[in-house]
Amino acid sequence: MITEQNVLDALSRVQEPELHRDLVTLKMIKDVRIAGEAVNFTIVLTTPACPLRGQIESEAKAAVAATGAKQITIKWDANVPSDARISGKLNIPVRSTIAVASGKGGVGKTTVAVNLAVALAQSGAQVGLMDADVYGPNIPIMMGVNEPPRSVNGKILPLEAHGVKLMSMGFLVPPEQAVIWRGPMLHSAVRQFLTDVEWGPLDYLVIDLPPGTGDVQLTLAQSVPLTGGVVVATPQDVALADVLKGIMMFKKLEVPVLGIVENMSYFLCPHCGERTEIFAHGGAQQMAAQYGVAFLGEIPLDVSIRVGGDTGAPITAAQPDSPHAKIFRELSQKIAAAVSVLNVQSSQGALITGGSIPVLRR
Ligand SMILES: Nc1ncnc2c1ncn2[C@@H]1O[C@H](COP(=O)(O)OP(=O)(O)O)[C@@H](O)[C@H]1O
Ligand SMILES: [Mg+2]
Repeated sequence: MITEQNVLDALSRVQEPELHRDLVTLKMIKDVRIAGEAVNFTIVLTTPACPLRGQIESEAKAAVAATGAKQITIKWDANVPSDARISGKLNIPVRSTIAVASGKGGVGKTTVAVNLAVALAQSGAQVGLMDADVYGPNIPIMMGVNEPPRSVNGKILPLEAHGVKLMSMGFLVPPEQAVIWRGPMLHSAVRQFLTDVEWGPLDYLVIDLPPGTGDVQLTLAQSVPLTGGVVVATPQDVALADVLKGIMMFKKLEVPVLGIVENMSYFLCPHCGERTEIFAHGGAQQMAAQYGVAFLGEIPLDVSIRVGGDTGAPITAAQPDSPHAKIFRELSQKIAAAVSVLNVQSSQGALITGGSIPVLRR
């Protein structure tokens, strides 16, 4: 007869591929039910956007089959671990914050932030997107919403599009009106975007930082506990060392770099499919290796990505089955996995070695 203990013993031999601990130790197994030779249980992932779910599933099934179970049914759930510093500092129910930065403007930082947020929401996570680019707020256009947010009981209600909660200075200030913020004002405006907005519980708050790595970015990043940062760069930025500025900014702030994304990396001819590398290619990957940060992937230059941005229908939402949406989805899974590793690591004080994500430390 199969017992619950047999099942747990079997599953304690299955490792979570990113966290390098077994599923039982990580408390990922619940609701084990056994009826004769049929075994049911739930696996609680550390992110619904888990890139290695297929691997976990096959290894868990193989392990449980060894107990003699003939019919194995797995249910899935997810519980994103929290970055305890966020609730400690701000008293808001946000589990993690992901800052998206770039050495300069026009590299696709907002495009990446928007598609990352939409892809995470599509995976089943609760996601917010905060436009901290107070000088050039693009989120309203790229997400296709722009109306004054309502407020209830002194709290601003975020707008919502494509399954993502949104806040942007663009909702509050008409586009023709220039915003001039100085350090302390900026600090308090951004803090208000966190504390005075009724975000509700969020697994991920994606923050689109202003372009560049100067004082403004530092002020902003210091107003918010950041779980991790993503640096977006084009191939030319590598040559101009702008990507390095992005990495160094996060290092200075002691924010772990989740990885580098190379945008506008290459061009696929829509007619013949030929790949052209308009700019020198591969430098971001080399630089990532050199500085010990993850390389998250390459996004091609493609008209559908640009149109998605201009029309408020990000490609991940408008054409979820397209190859470009798949690229953003994979990117979001890598980022979500890196956030989980960081948060589990800091909550358990665990030493995590190996795996596809380099060891990150706070
Ligand atoms: N991979 C891409 N392919 C085609 N157009 C892109 C791509 N990434 C960004 N764009 C376009 O380039 C412009 C700048 O991108 P944006 O995300 O606004 O950059 P940033 O936020 O860094 O200033 C936008 O018009 C956007 O639609
Ligand atoms: Mg932008």
